Amino acid sequence: MSTPEVTPVGPGPGTDEPDQEPTIFVLFGATGDLAHRMVLPAYYELYRRGLMPAHWVLIGNGRGDVSHEDFQGDVRGAVEGTGVQLDEQEWSAFAGRLRFAGGGFDDTDPGSLLDVIDTVRHQVGDNARYIHYLAVPPVAFGPLTDGLKAHDLLTRARVVYEKPYGTSPQSFQELDDRVHAAMDESQVYRIDHFLGKEATQDLHVLRFANTLVASIWNNRHVAQVQIDVPETLDVADRAAFYDATGAFRDMVATHLFQVAAEIAMEPPVSFSAADLQDARESVIAAFRPLRSEDVVFGQVEGYLDLPEVREGSTTETYAAARLWVDTDRWRDVPFVLRSGKQLAKSEQRVTLILKEPDGPLDGVPLHAGELSFSLAGDGEIELSLVLKKPGPGLDTVRQTMRLSLDDVPDSDPLPPYVALLHDVTLGDRSLFTTGAGLEQAWRAAAPIIDAPPTPIRYAVGSDGPAEGDALTDGIGWVAAQFDS
Ligand code: BG6
Repeated sequence: MSTPEVTPVGPGPGTDEPDQEPTIFVLFGATGDLAHRMVLPAYYELYRRGLMPAHWVLIGNGRGDVSHEDFQGDVRGAVEGTGVQLDEQEWSAFAGRLRFAGGGFDDTDPGSLLDVIDTVRHQVGDNARYIHYLAVPPVAFGPLTDGLKAHDLLTRARVVYEKPYGTSPQSFQELDDRVHAAMDESQVYRIDHFLGKEATQDLHVLRFANTLVASIWNNRHVAQVQIDVPETLDVADRAAFYDATGAFRDMVATHLFQVAAEIAMEPPVSFSAADLQDARESVIAAFRPLRSEDVVFGQVEGYLDLPEVREGSTTETYAAARLWVDTDRWRDVPFVLRSGKQLAKSEQRVTLILKEPDGPLDGVPLHAGELSFSLAGDGEIELSLVLKKPGPGLDTVRQTMRLSLDDVPDSDPLPPYVALLHDVTLGDRSLFTTGAGLEQAWRAAAPIIDAPPTPIRYAVGSDGPAEGDALTDGIGWVAAQFDS
């Protein structure tokens, strides 16, 4: 490892949040896929926007032995890979705060992390706090947590855990106990980036700020809720992680359950961070444990040929589930969830499909009324209504109006990882999951984890197994109506 080139560490561009303390960010799994695609570009974006603390250093950690300069080059590649045009001056000020500490890290062997921290501590401030980010597979959370405790890196620290936090009810409980043995709950940030999406946050604003929307948010008006995230992308770049995880844990029991909770929650006592978090997380206790007849798994053709996939693996690359929420508001309304890789299109869509009204008008098209949200990008809201087709007769026609959140004047949307990392620096836990909520999520998922369905083979570029479509009770996936 080369000697660190010391760059003076001072305030970042336009830093306007002087209340933020000097910080040593430690990113575990810094050479991995998640760090490259999401976490490192998010730190750069925070810096560019002047949202980092005035004094900070980011230390990447991994098993390999990477020089500080190579790591800086690697981060540059990751940031450029997201399509950002770098301003060279700004970039070199950012890069000067990046270090790499190799040799791994656990309770018996800290690798070079403690030495690297020693070399930067005086630059950031002797009393700097830590923000640790564990961008690693779930199996590594426990050993890293033990290491942080053993090497005294948890004083004045916050720790971000990627998802999935646990992989079963038992492993969740063991991990959570281990985490609580090392730190206080207030230090724990269990991230689920779907909660950080602009459009996800809009779900509850739209509902609680508009009587029109609030009044239909129940089983008297809604026939079905769909939370549908088909993806065209494959898993070739992270096949080892994926093969150990599968679509059900990677997407359904995690992201899609959290979005379901956003829809299903009762009105919070207030819009304070704690009340919002409480409302979202407590409804998960009303998720009925999934039954095998309500779940379909699929595996895409060619998956078994990926180099890091186990021979004969039965890991699912597609999962669809019909979830029931046992509250008075949602009794008898199916929440139909789906996600899969290498499907025909990519969408991230939440849709409330409305019931047909009782009344005097005949021939109202079935399931025509819909309120649909795209969670992708900056977000979109679509409202489909039945109208009179202009003309001499009384014919009905269905039309859809669209509201794009990026058309909102003066809006300044933050990508989800940027928004959530910013919340961590500020200490705002409202968009993070709680141990109690996750315990309930794993409880609802348990029957499927204990006895997973056999995956049905599906073709690349298809809509996945027809058995999954059947869970929509003949309505079909709403995502198919929209252009990607
Ligand atoms: C990740 C999953 O958490 O979310 C991926 O591990 C999935 O499998 C991704 O593709 C979707 O994220 P995004 O950024 O497209 O919303």
